[in-house]
Amino acid sequence: MSEPILRVEDLQTSFMTSAGEVQAVRGVSFTVHKGEILGIVGESGSGKSVTSMSVLRLLADTARIKSGKVEFEGTDLTKVSDRQMREIRGQKIAMVFQDPMSSLNPLIPVGKQVAEMIRVHHPDIKPDELKEKTLQLFKDVRIPEAEKRLKAYPHEFSGGMRQRVMIAMALANHPDLLIADEPTTALDVTIQHQILKQMRALQQEYGTSIIFITHDLGVVAELCDRVVVMYGGLVMEQANIYDLFENPLHPYTMGLLASVPGLNKDKNERLQSIPGSPPDMTRPPKGCPFASRCAYARSICAQECPPFVEVGSRSARCWLLQPDAPAEGNPLHEKLAKAKGGAG
Ligand SMILES: Nc1ncnc2c1ncn2[C@@H]1O[C@H](COP(=O)(O)OP(=O)(O)O)[C@@H](O)[C@H]1O
Ligand SMILES: [Mg+2]
Repeated sequence: MSEPILRVEDLQTSFMTSAGEVQAVRGVSFTVHKGEILGIVGESGSGKSVTSMSVLRLLADTARIKSGKVEFEGTDLTKVSDRQMREIRGQKIAMVFQDPMSSLNPLIPVGKQVAEMIRVHHPDIKPDELKEKTLQLFKDVRIPEAEKRLKAYPHEFSGGMRQRVMIAMALANHPDLLIADEPTTALDVTIQHQILKQMRALQQEYGTSIIFITHDLGVVAELCDRVVVMYGGLVMEQANIYDLFENPLHPYTMGLLASVPGLNKDKNERLQSIPGSPPDMTRPPKGCPFASRCAYARSICAQECPPFVEVGSRSARCWLLQPDAPAEGNPLHEKLAKAKGGAG
């Protein structure tokens, strides 16, 4: 595997609200390697966005990063000045969010907005070159009739086209890392598919590392190299894409997989969503956050949060993976043996 570009270590982020402390992220660690597409997946409320906003330091005023390190190209981003952080966000780390309309200025033609993005970091660029660069970006993200479209306003674009403009803007300065938070969630499936294909192509062309956040494992399957599964402000499992889909090591991952159309191996089985709902993060459970919804939970699961079990390059936290867990009725027993066999 290539060297790491981002290393998040034991990140804890809370919001101080009138209802008390919302412990949104409770000790999250993961690594993104150069040129890799890392998926962060989990149901709504798992802490995915707060994790990425902590990395970018774009949190609400009520938020506090309580502990942890965010090492980007060797620098701890929790320690740099606001000004340095703004520079890093403009030049080295770019982002794309779910709702492009809120990030685009409705009064300025899209081509001009992308050009401005380029100009900020190349103040001496000649007008001809700027136009050429902007046009090339529009072509790169496959905006049809790019030349004509440069002059259009955001409202003249469809949601899918606006999202392409956002991706063009994000890529304008060839960032080392792109963080995309549910960028295709609001789009219909065909457009979503086109954009994912485009992101993959751009990653190959530019060598950009990408963190792709989604609640949809189907999207992860299509795009990502490796996956971090989050729940209740914690990482429950992380593995490469093949291992995760072939041999998930956490009941939560198993539950997510069972609810994805087209991934379900048993064609006769109906898709099932996981019963129950995520925990209230003002009072996070002291044990495994998934225990109350887990079909395999035992008494220890509600009492104590399980530690990570590492198998090769992957890891998961579940009491069923512990050496002293009962073998009978343990769905992870065989999976663990298989994972160890492959040492993947
Ligand atoms: N500004 C905020 N103030 C208080 N709580 C918040 C705020 N933003 C997010 N949260 C809470 O933090 C938790 C994680 O949220 P989030 O990271 O947005 O989840 P996800 O992106 O996985 O859907 C949730 O319980 C959410 O309600
Ligand atoms: Mg989110």
